[in-house]
Amino acid sequence: MSLTKENVLKALSNVLDPDIKQDLVTLNMIQDVEIDGNHLSFTVMLTTPACPLKELIKNDCLGTIEKYLGKDVKVDITMSSSVTSTRSNAPLLPNVKNIIAVASGKGGVGKSTVTANLGVALAQSGAKVGIIDADISGPSIPTMFNCEKEQPGIKKVGDKNLIIPIQQYGVKLISIGFLTPPENAVVWRGPMASSALKQFIGDTEWGELDYLLIDLPPGTSDIHLTLVQTVPVTGAVLVTTPQKVALADAQKGLSMFRQPQINVPILGVVENMAYFTPEELPDNKYHIFGKDGGKKLATKFDVPFLGEIPLVQNIREAGDIGYPAVMKDDVTAEAFQTLARTTAQQIAIRNAQLAETKKVELKV
Ligand SMILES: Nc1ncnc2c1ncn2[C@@H]1O[C@H](COP(=O)(O)OP(=O)(O)OP(=O)(O)O)[C@@H](O)[C@H]1O
Ligand SMILES: [Mg+2]
Repeated sequence: MSLTKENVLKALSNVLDPDIKQDLVTLNMIQDVEIDGNHLSFTVMLTTPACPLKELIKNDCLGTIEKYLGKDVKVDITMSSSVTSTRSNAPLLPNVKNIIAVASGKGGVGKSTVTANLGVALAQSGAKVGIIDADISGPSIPTMFNCEKEQPGIKKVGDKNLIIPIQQYGVKLISIGFLTPPENAVVWRGPMASSALKQFIGDTEWGELDYLLIDLPPGTSDIHLTLVQTVPVTGAVLVTTPQKVALADAQKGLSMFRQPQINVPILGVVENMAYFTPEELPDNKYHIFGKDGGKKLATKFDVPFLGEIPLVQNIREAGDIGYPAVMKDDVTAEAFQTLARTTAQQIAIRNAQLAETKKVELKV
């Protein structure tokens, strides 16, 4: 085939996105095709900057161009990204592409730790990220981001006062911890907690975001209902430890999102505290809470397994000093980075396969 724009697109229509299983041309992922003599350049627009298959897709494109257009063509591929969304014409958070709930059944399994590290890892990859700390009576996000003393500003837009989120490590944050001393928030329950969450969603200046993560309180509380009744949630990430009691509770959490009247897609299961590795014996893994519980749960409910995070002192210390473990340069950081890539991948797959989630209208 001769080197023309048409033939380039014809050739590249043989390259499939391995996740979505459609070709790159149909998916509108090939852009800015330029030809100059035997020089060809184009951009591949991925569905997330955290795409784990970046190199694979690039190599596939190079191989396919060589196969159909010959070895003499000099190819220059720019890998870029534009995060996908199913949200459109949303009255609330119109410029937020994906709203991701991080939930568990049981308390203390690591939702806030996972949310904080996932948020920072996605931001490190180049995505625009925000976190809502929806745990009104037990906020952890200010501590985990070392900004407990920060106070958000207020901005008047029209006749509305909007809260300006705190920005830390490249992530926009809002938490009740920024607005009231912790001892006050503990007593916030029911309607007060729900109205705080509604404010975090509707009266906060989030601007454009690729991912807004919601760190939920444990269990299946009023806050969960308020969330799904206020905005359509793109998907839920379930955090569990491999322990039997945690798994039983995680099933309840999963079932809640799957209830027909709620119907929030499950993006997958994260197994936290999957095993303990002492620093001095890095090859030894001790399955303190049991083995593969999260994986088995994912299989049982036919949802993706997003990854496992080890139990290491480092993660707890990083949480306490407010410097998320993913910002270091070690195997723990890699575990969170891998988790971020698989989660972003599942969000892209969900957006390609399913329509927008509907906001829940519960009749009482
Ligand atoms: N993989 C891990 N290794 C070591 N410590 C961890 C790990 N994950 C979480 N922790 C620690 O366990 C404690 C509970 O974690 P976290 O606060 O993230 O759980 P949670 O599910 O958000 O709890 P809650 O239900 O109270 O909101 C924290 O002290 C945290 O630092
Ligand atoms: Mg928490």
